[in-house]
Amino acid sequence: PPGAQQWVPAQPHSIDELKQAAAGCQGCDLHENATQTVFGRGAPHARVVFVGEQPGDVEDQKGLPFVGPAGRLLRDAVDDAGIDPADLYITNSVKHFRFEMRGSRRIHQTPGPAHITACRPWLVAEFALLQPELVVLLGATAGKALLGPSFRVTRSRGQLMPWPASAEHPEDFPVAEIRALATIHPSAVLRADNREVAYQGLVDDLKVAAAAIA
Ligand code: URA
Ligand code: SF4
Repeated sequence: PPGAQQWVPAQPHSIDELKQAAAGCQGCDLHENATQTVFGRGAPHARVVFVGEQPGDVEDQKGLPFVGPAGRLLRDAVDDAGIDPADLYITNSVKHFRFEMRGSRRIHQTPGPAHITACRPWLVAEFALLQPELVVLLGATAGKALLGPSFRVTRSRGQLMPWPASAEHPEDFPVAEIRALATIHPSAVLRADNREVAYQGLVDDLKVAAAAIA
């Protein structure tokens, strides 16, 4: 399959229109086994867009991003950082759940570079419509999707970065003045040996985002 581009409406007027089109996307093989496309959601005039990795098991079933355990933790961190949830739009780098069966259980698999590239046109279309002031990249997949394969969370987290000057494909981001901030993925907090420290690190990074839009 040739990627999502052919499913993206040429002149979309709303996120809802994009979401409806994405429901039929067959731009990569992930649509075959997942339950449904999980599109972004949030304020139509969001000032901040959060970009995650891909829907998890719960999100795949409910059809909404970040409604499982990682989403709960993210909402707490957003609150603790002092970001108004009304300013947010939350989406994923890849919009279908990638998993492998282990017995009867569906086990998360990290999306590959081909999935990230295939799904990127949806992210570009969301950005073009929303024109956010700030993009928060949650973890390595979002960083690679938007800043290129050499992106490392540990090196870049917690700093405001120019955008799209540093992006891999600036020409296809029809966005004006915009900045990016990377941090760890909320799932990494859930897996961390010291959850308290990892959580506080996430909140500290998000406070930089809060200050940037204050
Ligand atoms: N993790 C993500 O990256 N996105 C979701 O929507 C849920 C969990
Ligand atoms: Fe389309 Fe993205 Fe789903 Fe692949 S993961 S089928 S590109 S929406």
